[in-house]
Amino acid sequence: GPALFAPERRNSEGFDLTDAPTLRHIDAARDEHATTDFTGQPMIAGKVKGLTARVVQNPATGARVGRVTDAAAEDVETALAAARPWAAPVEERAKILNRAADLYEENFGPIFALLAREAGKSLADAVAELREAVDFLRYYAARAQGITAAPAGVFACISPWNFPLAIFTGQIAAGLATGNAVLAKPAEQTPLIASFAVGLMLKAGVPASALQLLPGDGATVGARLTSDPRVNGVCFTGSTETALIIRRAMAKHLAPGAPLIAETGGLNAMIVDSTALPEQAVRDVIASSFQSAGQRCSALRCLYVQEDIAPHFTEMLFGAMEELTLGDPWALSTDVGPVIDAEAEAGIRAHIEKARKEGRMLRQLSTPRGGHFIAPTVVKVRGIADLGREIFGPVLHLATYRAEDLPKVIADINATGYGLTFGLHTRIDNRVQEVCEALHVGNIYVNRNQIGAVVGSQPFGGEGLSGTGPKAGGPEYLSRFTRPEPAPASA
Ligand code: NAD
Ligand code: ALA
Repeated sequence: GPALFAPERRNSEGFDLTDAPTLRHIDAARDEHATTDFTGQPMIAGKVKGLTARVVQNPATGARVGRVTDAAAEDVETALAAARPWAAPVEERAKILNRAADLYEENFGPIFALLAREAGKSLADAVAELREAVDFLRYYAARAQGITAAPAGVFACISPWNFPLAIFTGQIAAGLATGNAVLAKPAEQTPLIASFAVGLMLKAGVPASALQLLPGDGATVGARLTSDPRVNGVCFTGSTETALIIRRAMAKHLAPGAPLIAETGGLNAMIVDSTALPEQAVRDVIASSFQSAGQRCSALRCLYVQEDIAPHFTEMLFGAMEELTLGDPWALSTDVGPVIDAEAEAGIRAHIEKARKEGRMLRQLSTPRGGHFIAPTVVKVRGIADLGREIFGPVLHLATYRAEDLPKVIADINATGYGLTFGLHTRIDNRVQEVCEALHVGNIYVNRNQIGAVVGSQPFGGEGLSGTGPKAGGPEYLSRFTRPEPAPASA
């Protein structure tokens, strides 16, 4: 396949949050948008009708972040009729996407404010998210050079709220870099950051007929887009359930062979064996399960600790949990913010209460007042099969295993049918080899945390129920956004 690293490309430098002057600089720029009343609306190459505007609330405080006008059925129709693939030469498209990346970096103040206020992101998460968005723009711009295949045509890009800037931007950048017309449908929960981002891309020079924004409901706007034959391909990131609905809609209404790129959920495990360095493993378990309040598709859900070290290890883990600061992500000291909304909170809470009733509660931090907070929690399970479904929050399920049962643990992880991320802490080289070969998982991380794949270095995506591939931020990704080249005529 093509070389992993695109030439002439660098990852975004981001910000050094250990540097006091940098922090003050960020804080001042963000502070200007502490109370800005943001607006979001359909951004289409035609007259907008729109629904009645609704208020978007801060998940940590309930305060108003702004108002969004969702797209009406007529807006989807107008956008579909106006969509035109981006005919400019690839060099020109790349230049404009790189300009958009520069604009993103310049606008870190409002972007960090929006990520905290609309999506509940801590500053560290917001910095990483901006970097990832910028990296996607530059990486796909570089990767598109040399692609000669024609664009698929019109691409619907449907994204989740948990990376409202990075994944939203990555999907669009891939579609545009390859010359498609993109219709972007952001998550219901995060339309304001989507509107801000599209504003920057249009300002950079993306034509309004090549990039249109349709905020609104999945079941209406999303479903309409994925069942219209004028759409030539769909790029989706979100839950496995929604991906299956989209696949069925596409099979019924879209041309046969229209690509669906779906990056979906996971039931991610980590194994810590008795040779692991406990301090390092504890740090990586904390980051993998509780960073972003566990609202990452890559997050650790089920930790297997080898029986002989389990008592000592869990004691260290619970001690480290006590060091986490929970609260409004606007505070620079916050490690763990809220979950996204009341529905998410209620679902996770019910799962925890069930574990408590069954006597499986091992540890829970205390919950901050107000807002949609779930305190980091550890519950006991026999194994990953007990989880049943992806719990999208700061809940770690802990199991122990005996050394001789390792093959069964691996078989149980594979048997979930998901295969997104996996972590392994061991100092036995042969074990790394054996475990990695036996597991059907997209991204495996050894002796480190299992979140935060870096664009261009760690292509990201799962197997089985976790996704279709090709991996985002990797060299094969753009191939699905183009029309397959006709097979060479046989002699
Ligand atoms: P979701 O499936 O509820 O929604 C995702 C998007 O799909 C939203 O924009 C939503 O409006 C839209 N949608 C909903 N119903 C639709 C329909 N019938 N037709 C078309 N579109 C529809 O997911 P979410 O709650 O926003 O995100 C969390 C999920 O995303 C988790 O399962 C997580 O694991 C997954 N995720 C996966 C990755 C990855 O790279 N694999 C990354 C981030 C999140
Ligand atoms: N790419 C994101 C991560 O690796 C989802 O955490």
